[in-house]
Amino acid sequence: MIDVERRSPFGVRSTTPAPATADTLGGHTAGQLLRLCEVAGLSGADAAGYAQVLTTALGPVSCRPLALASPSPSFLSDDHTPVEFSLSFEPGTAPTLRVLLEPGSGVGTLAQSGRAGLRAVRELARRWGFATDRLDELEDLFFPLSPQGPLALWCALELRPGGVPRVKVYLNPAASGAERAAETVREALRRLGHPQAFDALPESDRILFFALDLGDWDVPRAKVYTAHHNLSATAAGGLSRMGNGPGATEIEAFFHAASGLEDGRDTVLDRRPGLACHAFTESATGLPTGFTFHVPVRDYVRHDGEALERASALLRHYGADPTPLLESVAAVTSRRLEDGTGLIAYLALAHQEGRPPRVMVYVSSEAYGVRPPAALSPRAEAAH
Ligand code: TRP
Repeated sequence: MIDVERRSPFGVRSTTPAPATADTLGGHTAGQLLRLCEVAGLSGADAAGYAQVLTTALGPVSCRPLALASPSPSFLSDDHTPVEFSLSFEPGTAPTLRVLLEPGSGVGTLAQSGRAGLRAVRELARRWGFATDRLDELEDLFFPLSPQGPLALWCALELRPGGVPRVKVYLNPAASGAERAAETVREALRRLGHPQAFDALPESDRILFFALDLGDWDVPRAKVYTAHHNLSATAAGGLSRMGNGPGATEIEAFFHAASGLEDGRDTVLDRRPGLACHAFTESATGLPTGFTFHVPVRDYVRHDGEALERASALLRHYGADPTPLLESVAAVTSRRLEDGTGLIAYLALAHQEGRPPRVMVYVSSEAYGVRPPAALSPRAEAAH
């Protein structure tokens, strides 16, 4: 622990000590992060600093022994670990490692966890000297006195070399009631200078998250995540509202490759919805400048071995080397991939104006549990 603090590039003096043992939530997830950082080619000093930030941002729950059940039913992951990792692959370069976390999870009510979340983000802002005004302007919309819904605030860090991450904040559109989610998001977009953005979004079953880039981004985005039940490949192909975004055939091909669903009967995402994310960066056209399509691969595989094969095939298709993904999986778990499902939670394809397409792979911490493999399909069973 002392070692971690001494190597921290910020001279962090934290009130939440880094847990010394791997059998606490903070110790376990920080260990995973340190190993992932090594895979991603980050220096030991950067890795130690980021691990420290993770445990500090998690708050008191970080010291909780893993033997005790998760203190809150966090919606962040299936086993309620308030941490999830992801890798973003661009052709020809090493993948970028990101970590998503719920600050102050399990501190009490949703209102209390929202306040803990805001405190944690402002603490990061002080440490790295970035402004939170875009978030401050939205506080009344997303942090009412009696919030509702599955989360208050999540925070993601893009772990760059140099020890200063890029920061993203995820907010709950249903905080003031699911029936007001659309109005809440419309108003949030308007306040951020995107008055026409809401009307550009595709129809959806639910607006899941409103997300904001904070800190040192070339072009900070406001993003809206929408959920789409019983989505077919054709419908997925028609989701993007980007001006010159991906063609329908590209999204359809991604849908098939990620979900394993072939064209024909019963080929919709009927176990967990597909997600679309539209990013807004400038208001001249009112149209989004980014589109990401997420497939919850974990509900469409028998086990993680199959999920990893799909991820690897997609990476190769997009010109990226899957080796760092295989190493990342080994960095977070020592279990056999065939023994569970959910380690790979989502596969996503991101298009952003001015950048090559990126493939994202979301890797669960599984600190609290592993979902057993799915039963074999009736046809596969008959063959046994
Ligand atoms: N666990 C939630 C879900 O599966 C939210 C979530 C966590 C999520 N990580 C994500 C959604 C990555 C999209 C992409 O929906």
